[in-house]
Amino acid sequence: MRRDHPVRLMVSRRRSMVGATKAAFVLATLAPSALAATYSLSDNHVGTNFLSTFTHQAIADPTRGRVNYVDQATALAQNLTFASGNTLILRADSKTTLSSSGPSRNSVRIRSVKTYTTHVSVFDIRHMPQGCGTWPAAWETDEASWPNGGEVDIVGVNDQTPNAMTLHTGANCNMPASRTQTGTATLNNCDVNANGNSGCGVQAPTPDSYGPAFNNAGGGFYAMERTSTFIKVWFWGRNAGNVPAEVRSGGNSINTDTWGTPTAFFPNTQCDIASHFDAHNIIINLTFCGDWAGQAGIFNGAGCPGACTDYVNNNPSAFTDAFWDIAALRVYT
Ligand SMILES: *[C@@H]1O[C@H](CO)[C@@H](O)[C@H](O)[C@H]1NC(C)=O
Ligand SMILES: *[C@@H]1O[C@H](CO)[C@@H](O)[C@H](O)[C@H]1NC(C)=O
Repeated sequence: MRRDHPVRLMVSRRRSMVGATKAAFVLATLAPSALAATYSLSDNHVGTNFLSTFTHQAIADPTRGRVNYVDQATALAQNLTFASGNTLILRADSKTTLSSSGPSRNSVRIRSVKTYTTHVSVFDIRHMPQGCGTWPAAWETDEASWPNGGEVDIVGVNDQTPNAMTLHTGANCNMPASRTQTGTATLNNCDVNANGNSGCGVQAPTPDSYGPAFNNAGGGFYAMERTSTFIKVWFWGRNAGNVPAEVRSGGNSINTDTWGTPTAFFPNTQCDIASHFDAHNIIINLTFCGDWAGQAGIFNGAGCPGACTDYVNNNPSAFTDAFWDIAALRVYT
């Protein structure tokens, strides 16, 4: 449950109140409003918790990547998924040379069992998959009702530095050209049927938001706040001076109003957030090549040689850095 505290209003008035009257007033002011947003920790996904709070999806990759998503038993047996203490590793097979006519490279895609509407997701990530043809993603959607139930891409889905945070929706959802965010908007029409499903994206201002630069800095924190009236995403590098203490420490409660200007801000001025986004699962996946990353212009443009699928087939050791190392995913409601 989201709690809203119209703090300043209460301070002067509460002194004159006593007992039940005061309690009733406080309760009334806890009703949703557009004021300060305090949330409490609902789901603390850390280490082995992920093995029961998330499902490994052994499915065909919807982006037609050169990937073979395996189930949890296989992922654990092959150590593609490793969970211990405050560490969750999700990685691709980096040992097997593949036959071009045989199965694709083993990898992992996990989806939260629970779904969330109004909430804040805080990802504490030490390392994200990097390397030629590697396409990681952490995002939220309702796969059963896509695109009308909406999609929020938090990190990786566009596989580019800097990271882009992007919404994908049904028709009639646009973002204003001017808004308060530190990132830079690319396209403002979120409709999947406009602009070839590019969605409405916002690029983070710094290269350490993605890939090798992110990893070299020890990773960092991504946080996404979703309410019925807006979606915000913040990124802070591991060593940034402005990481909120409650984010760094994984506090039991958070107040997003103290976090400063978001990296990406998606308001409801030209998009009814409440009707374009339904209850979402959180998904973390790692594919290779596929519709976006496999395009010759993208693959070769990133300095990677030959054809993406040949590269994935023939160079297992090139995927030793194709892993997620996630310290925690905390969901606040
Ligand atoms: C599995 O992966 C973890 C994390 O990378 C590593 O510490 C561990 O040694 C691996 N286990 C085996 C059996 O290779
Ligand atoms: C993850 O899977 C979804 C489809 O279910 C896709 O839209 C997204 O692009 C995928 N991302 C990666 C990096 O595999």
